[in-house]
Amino acid sequence: MSETKDVLILAIESSCDETAAAVVRNGREVLSNIISSQIEIHKLYGGVVPEIASRKHIEKINQVIEEALEEANVTLDDIDAIGVTYGPGLVGALLVGVAAAKAIAYAKKIPLVGVHHIEGHISANYIENKELEPPFACLVVSGGHTHLVRVKDYGEYEILGRTRDDAAGEAFDKVARAIGLGYPGGPKIEKLAKEGNPDAIAFPRAHIADSQYDFSFSGVKSAVLNYINGCEMRKEEYNCADIAASFQKAVTDVLTENAMRAGEEFGMDKFAIAGGVASNGTLRNAMKEACENKGVKFYHPSPIYCTDNAAMIGVAAYYEYMKGTRHGWDLNAVPNLKLGER
Ligand code: KG4
Ligand code: ZN
Repeated sequence: MSETKDVLILAIESSCDETAAAVVRNGREVLSNIISSQIEIHKLYGGVVPEIASRKHIEKINQVIEEALEEANVTLDDIDAIGVTYGPGLVGALLVGVAAAKAIAYAKKIPLVGVHHIEGHISANYIENKELEPPFACLVVSGGHTHLVRVKDYGEYEILGRTRDDAAGEAFDKVARAIGLGYPGGPKIEKLAKEGNPDAIAFPRAHIADSQYDFSFSGVKSAVLNYINGCEMRKEEYNCADIAASFQKAVTDVLTENAMRAGEEFGMDKFAIAGGVASNGTLRNAMKEACENKGVKFYHPSPIYCTDNAAMIGVAAYYEYMKGTRHGWDLNAVPNLKLGER
């Protein structure tokens, strides 16, 4: 009787402001997940500075990879393939991960598998939900993306809706800046919102006339800024906790409503969420409740797998690897890579 051999993927992620490496066994078992965050540096500037991000990635990447191997208790000789995010993201940041991945794959003569960052976020759901299999719907909400995706099969995606302007996380970050909370705004808004009244201020819920599933968040962001300016001009006090809670509710309402409409239209009986904003408790609870009301099974990753990490890239790389996806030594960073593109 032949035993099936384990497949070990070393994954690398450097698309924005986290330098991350992970080792994943057989697609769903995370042996290590090392994340070196640059938040402390970027928060001095109120957001991610691309040039600084690239420089920090190059300083950290080898150390992070070494730690990932050590913590997993493996060496490069045990690794079957290298998975790496090659887009979308900041070009200089992506290039650091791609160059490191290529160097290791070339030196060890093992396959190189380029991964789409959003495919990684979606795949984060497989780590803790061992029973989850496609097809399902996924709401991807991060600092750079807001996508409603139909996951038809492993590696097969149909985008049902997307943001027309700001991403959900971007709106959180901009509103946080306006009320003096600093970067990254999402977790800070969530914390402050706990002390506020979500029904205090009626911020707009944007609906797109010609698309049922697209989003727009620049309107709600402007409404918050106008509200603050109005109060300041009238020399009236305003309550930042109420602003945070009301803004968070407005964003959550639109995300949940569109997501559930799409789920119903396409007959999805499973719904997942992914991306940094998916760690937001109000959004998770709203989605959970909406799914329960419709008899839809709801899935979400733990917060550590919602924000950028390499474990999710390792999971996505495993399924791509098993399907035969291989990239050549000419793999490049693709800052505006589309989901489903190779
Ligand atoms: O997925 P991610 O780490 O990076 C991108 O791919 O963009 O997402 C980062 C975004 C930031 O905009 C951050 O403010 C937001 O996710 N975020 C949150 C929360 N935690 C992170 N937004 C709302 N509530 C949170 N708890
Ligand atoms: Zn991300």
